Amino acid sequence: MEPKHCEARWQEEEYYYPSPDFIGQANCADSSVYDRFCLDNFPECFKEMAELLDWDKYWHTILDTSDAPCWKWFVGGKLNACYNCVDRHLKKYRNKTAIYFVPEPEEERILKITYQELWRRVNEMAALLQDFCGLKAGDRVTLHLPMTPELPITMLACARLGVIHSQVFAGFSGKACADRLVDAESEVLITMDVYYRAGSLLDHKQKADEAVKVAEEQGKKVKKVLIWQRYPGKYSSPTPLVEGRDFIVNDLLKNYYHKEVKPVSMPAEGTLFLMYTSGSTGKPKGVQHSIGGYLSYVTWMSKVIQDIHPEDVYWCMADIGWITGHSFVVYGPLALAASTVIYEGTPTYPDAERCWRIAEELGVNIFHTSPTAIRALRKAGEDLPLKYNYEFKHMTTVGEPIEPEVWRWYYKVIGKGKAVIVDTWWQTESGGFLCSTVPAIKPMKPGSAGPGVPGIHPVILDDEGNEIPPGSGKAGNLCIKNPWPGLMQTIWKDRERYVDTYYAKYCKNPKSKDWRDWPYMSGDAAVIAADGYVRILGRVDDVINVAGHRLGTKEIESAALTVEEIAEAAVVAVYDEIKGTVPHLYVSLKPGYDPSDEIAKKVTDAVCDIVGKIAKPAKVFIVPDMPKTRSGKILRRILAAISNKKEDLGDITTLSNPHVIEEIKRLVHG
Ligand code: WTA
Repeated sequence: MEPKHCEARWQEEEYYYPSPDFIGQANCADSSVYDRFCLDNFPECFKEMAELLDWDKYWHTILDTSDAPCWKWFVGGKLNACYNCVDRHLKKYRNKTAIYFVPEPEEERILKITYQELWRRVNEMAALLQDFCGLKAGDRVTLHLPMTPELPITMLACARLGVIHSQVFAGFSGKACADRLVDAESEVLITMDVYYRAGSLLDHKQKADEAVKVAEEQGKKVKKVLIWQRYPGKYSSPTPLVEGRDFIVNDLLKNYYHKEVKPVSMPAEGTLFLMYTSGSTGKPKGVQHSIGGYLSYVTWMSKVIQDIHPEDVYWCMADIGWITGHSFVVYGPLALAASTVIYEGTPTYPDAERCWRIAEELGVNIFHTSPTAIRALRKAGEDLPLKYNYEFKHMTTVGEPIEPEVWRWYYKVIGKGKAVIVDTWWQTESGGFLCSTVPAIKPMKPGSAGPGVPGIHPVILDDEGNEIPPGSGKAGNLCIKNPWPGLMQTIWKDRERYVDTYYAKYCKNPKSKDWRDWPYMSGDAAVIAADGYVRILGRVDDVINVAGHRLGTKEIESAALTVEEIAEAAVVAVYDEIKGTVPHLYVSLKPGYDPSDEIAKKVTDAVCDIVGKIAKPAKVFIVPDMPKTRSGKILRRILAAISNKKEDLGDITTLSNPHVIEEIKRLVHG
């Protein structure tokens, strides 16, 4: 879609090298890893990933392509994801902390959950899900849980039973939760009464009521709503319980204390979870991840790219409601017996030093966050981290492009010039990393994600499918030549959309069973430098990235269109100093209505209510008409250029109504 702002600042950056101390302790410091994972060794090389797991039954076929492009990995194998993340560590790490929970209010104690206790709590929850809810392998359960330990406990309890969990980011509205629940056909919704965010105790239970109501309107009856208490023993929400439908988990659990549930031995190609993400159409898609392939992949990436050792204290700030949290707060670190930190709140609450107090107190040595958080922390105080006595060996940036200036601040100030940085590019669909340096082997380059991780072979294709050679400086569609074990299985109940979205453009023979005919199209534009490092420019589809969170323009536009007065809506991404990009929402009115602040507010409220506050437009402009082609298509790129204060609006000769441009410019720039 629109060309991205970072293109303008393009320049080759210098390398930064890992320290000998880091290399000396790294899990992977031997560059032969790249030879092992070369394309000639595909797919056998991925055996190395599967070997990090404990299998009930070892697999016989590493990759089955018979149903291309729905790839099946480690076929014939059986395993349980919960067993791999919890039970298998008990022998050696029983008393080690698995989860540190840091509540947002600083006066509340940090909670430590050992592997032993995690095992107990997961067993009890699994028993409840099995006996009280009647859930069994293959059923779906929708979770709408905030950042508390109850979220991974519930996920792992599902995984123990082979139940497919579908966690919806707690910041999403009840309606957004309902859409996902209906699509997944869940009959049980698991939520929490309240949680803290930026200093307020939010009533979360009310969203469950909304979700159940909207789901019912769509023909899906939710049989049970399970509610965790943020403060066990006390129901803290003002929203009343619905008799016969709502149940307090903490009360029910008393019937299951000390109950044990054997982990269900699941086929490797079984489904571990669904994660809904935004795409080009209004309906979010249920990205479906496997048990064996996904878990092997994230475990290997956690070990090699994140350099996690069991003795590390690892803090990934991402919300578990996004893929980063699933892979790199929960499954990867726990599969490696690390101690993973879950922080309930906002990084800058109550002040910009909160993160460093947490890091110091817990002895965090691996830190993982997004450019948006880094920009916000930098703005709040250039030197603050230096006052604190923590020591990171490794840091990650993920979710959006990072400006080289911001990268250098991350390196010098947060990392104190000692920690290595990995800039990991990947997606909900990919399960784990696609491009990044292996930190002890390759130097860092500010603003570039690095080459494909071992086993991933990126290529830039032009619109005709020709390869754009590295070093040519030309941008194109970033694709991956080969499948990999962490890649989604399909889109839940929508194979056609899966094939269309990721393969249709470049697959020359849709009947082919040869993986070479199915390059994966990521939906991002990128440039590959002569050294093979990939620089991401941004999405080419109707997806915008706000503060590292992926939002569909269509979802926001449809929300705006629910407002009575609105005739048309168009969302564009606008450069923002902190959040990378934010949405500007352009709307036009139906005949007979006049623009007013009240209508603009109604539109904003509708977006927050239907999608969630994270999608709140930074500005709403009520325009007399949208810039349109003669066939009536709204030209969003022109609106984006105006919002981004570009002199050059690009080609406007195809417009049927060029006169609106001056009017829109006046509205936007005053
Ligand atoms: C963007 C998040 C630049 C990209 C893991 C991708 C990035 C989308 C990076 C996926 C990065 C992710 N540098 N851009 N290191 N990482 N992106 O599905 O546009 O929430 O397609 O997964 O985020 O977002 P998603």
